[in-house]
Amino acid sequence: MTSCDALIPLRLKLLRQGKTIETCYFDNDEVQSTRHFGVLLKGAEKKDNPQQSLLAIASLYRVNLPENDIYNAWKIRGMATDIPFRGQGLATALLQHCIEYAREQGGEVIWCNARIASVSLYQHSGFDVFGEAFDIPGVGKHFRMCCYL
Ligand SMILES: CC(C)(COP(=O)(O)OP(=O)(O)OC[C@H]1O[C@@H](n2cnc3c(N)ncnc32)[C@H](O)[C@@H]1OP(=O)(O)O)[C@@H](O)C(=O)NCCC(=O)NCCS
Repeated sequence: MTSCDALIPLRLKLLRQGKTIETCYFDNDEVQSTRHFGVLLKGAEKKDNPQQSLLAIASLYRVNLPENDIYNAWKIRGMATDIPFRGQGLATALLQHCIEYAREQGGEVIWCNARIASVSLYQHSGFDVFGEAFDIPGVGKHFRMCCYL
């Protein structure tokens, strides 16, 4: 998807609980190189309203690492799986898809700011933690994680 509109309800529910809808729109969401990926309920791709059938979401941005702009780098943001569908590998599948897409685009590194609870998810897909934990105001503690492609 090139527009983030279908992802907004899940972002609000899972990533910005209790916050305003404006907080669900991220920098570079509508930039041409950005891609928004989702896992849809089987058969739902034929329905008119994919937003109601999204089980898991992730967005991928062509954004340099803050510490090092020499690499062709891609940032994953907004990874979330709806509660009844967790623990079934949906986020891992989305992560693999993001890695493959970034590679196809000539990406050399893929990175994210991972919430502490999701560090192991990224580690299982080959990401490493870089540096100390840091706070993202209103969201909580995060680690910078990177995977060289
Ligand atoms: C973090 C989050 C996206 C993970 O989504 P998910 O779809 O449950 O992730 P997966 O199923 O791929 O992996 C979750 C765990 O289930 C395990 N798992 C994967 N496939 C599995 C399967 N078929 N059966 C059972 N467990 C499985 C994974 O090993 C993983 O374990 P780990 O946490 O120790 O790495 C989800 O919990 C979420 O939306 N959290 C709230 C939002 C959030 O924090 N997002 C991350 C922002 S950085």
